[in-house]
Amino acid sequence: MTSNLVPPSPLFSPGRAGGEQRWTLDDIPWQAIAHDRLAGREDLFILLATASLVEASTALFTRNLVDHFRGDEEVTRWLDENWLPEEMQHGQALRRYVETAWPDFAWEDVYRPFLDEYTPCCRLDALEAERSLEMVSRCVVETGTASYYTTLSRASPEPVLALLARRIAADEVRHYKHFYRHFRRYRQQENIRRSAVFGALWRRLRMTEGEDSYIALKHVYLARHPGRGFDPRVYRAVRREFRRSLFAQFPHAMGVKMLLKPLGLPPRVGRLFEPLVEALARRLVP
Ligand SMILES: [Fe+2]
Ligand SMILES: [Fe+2]
Repeated sequence: MTSNLVPPSPLFSPGRAGGEQRWTLDDIPWQAIAHDRLAGREDLFILLATASLVEASTALFTRNLVDHFRGDEEVTRWLDENWLPEEMQHGQALRRYVETAWPDFAWEDVYRPFLDEYTPCCRLDALEAERSLEMVSRCVVETGTASYYTTLSRASPEPVLALLARRIAADEVRHYKHFYRHFRRYRQQENIRRSAVFGALWRRLRMTEGEDSYIALKHVYLARHPGRGFDPRVYRAVRREFRRSLFAQFPHAMGVKMLLKPLGLPPRVGRLFEPLVEALARRLVP
């Protein structure tokens, strides 16, 4: 359904100076959005608007992350020149999709109060003390986003959204690979035990239902339903509804594989963990 929307060779636009950004907003055929396919899809609107706010705010905690890896120029340069611009581009692309598909949504008016509430939450102490474990934490985040956008691309009834989500998912997988590569390097340097890796995985998984998605969803929901209230009960109900409608499209095998990888378990042992990890992976989406 979407193959006709993939740009012809070369697949990707030339990268920006100093980086290797694989696509730009110009590669997305915004004019081809099939508006009729989105009729009544309030769930997609909320998911995309929420994701656009969170992605657009990436710069808030990038400084903390870069400071954490100060002295490792390969990591800090990649974060500044590749990772951050790509995450910001995800925010811009999702914003443009939302504004094109749901033009009555005043993105900027929702983003500002979201930012005011979310900014104090981005603290340095939320990072893992050991660099290898922060890399594990980053791998969990990228697993979550890769799974999220893969789910969206599979579930989308609208071809341009499917294409956009696929592009973003590919970026997130690439980010994961970068963080994983550096995790392996730091694990050796810091002599980190598997139990510590498991601890970092677990801590990050517990944060995935955390402040950013709650605050973003709250602002989108209240903008959409002025006069209604929003509290943890409403939040859980909305997420339950998303899970129900999207669960079948969740990339279980991919999520499990990415989450287990930093543990470096022998395949036989890894298989024993799969049901548990699959249950955990489901918490990542949406
Ligand atoms: Fe992203
Ligand atoms: Fe990412």
